[in-house]
Amino acid sequence: MSENFKRGGLLYEGKGKKVFQVLGHENKVLLLFKDDLTAHQGRKTGSFPKKGEVCKNISSLIFKYLKKEDISTHFIQDINSQEMLCLKTEIIPLEVVIRNQLAGSTANRLGIKEGTEIKKTLLEFYYKKDELDDPFVSEGQIESLKLIPDFNWLEPIKKQAFLINKKLQFFFEKAGLKLIDFKMEFGLFKDKLVLADDISPDSCRIWENQTEERLDKDRFRRDWGKVEESYKKIESLLYQQWGHFLKNNS
Ligand code: TMP
Repeated sequence: MSENFKRGGLLYEGKGKKVFQVLGHENKVLLLFKDDLTAHQGRKTGSFPKKGEVCKNISSLIFKYLKKEDISTHFIQDINSQEMLCLKTEIIPLEVVIRNQLAGSTANRLGIKEGTEIKKTLLEFYYKKDELDDPFVSEGQIESLKLIPDFNWLEPIKKQAFLINKKLQFFFEKAGLKLIDFKMEFGLFKDKLVLADDISPDSCRIWENQTEERLDKDRFRRDWGKVEESYKKIESLLYQQWGHFLKNNS
């Protein structure tokens, strides 16, 4: 780890990451990507060597790309193979899911075949509450039940989520991949909205363009095998296409 950014206390431990305070820098945190994989609300667990590194690499490439596209994110710089330095934000307790093609929970809940084309990009909110398994919530519920501290941020969040989706669809498409759906979290840093958390094959559905082979965490959730190989394939295709962004560390 860089000398200047030493780990302080553990602020939060999630399924795929640990978040540490940075000693002497009250506005900064270190995100450590773990090798663990979990699914079905933690009932299924697994791991593979260097999984944290692969997800950190994918996530940091995405943040660097978005930065070049003028999207504000919490990412500051890479620290080592498994850690990145980020701004310490006040997380808005919503999981913002964008769906470009139907799959997963919404397909299941509505009995619609996975892979079905969507007439218009779909944005959904899930309320971040582990003990409730992050339930789906409507905009009305978010407003009426005051689920977020300031409802005025909802429109900017939606606008930013659609914009990030456009940029990422292009980013994946160029690498021969299709972004089916993904989850974002946003935070506030000094009253400014920034993309927080991470974006990796743990929180996206990514299919190969030509073959529609599924390369994301569904391979683990659904016991399809080749999880490690698939995550590494995403990493390798993205780096082949976009690796030049890595010439700068931040
Ligand atoms: P879903 O189909 O299970 O609702 O998930 C949609 C996408 O969002 C999928 O790529 C996984 C991601 N996601 C998370 O990573 N964490 C979450 O808590 C939720 C609700 C979705």
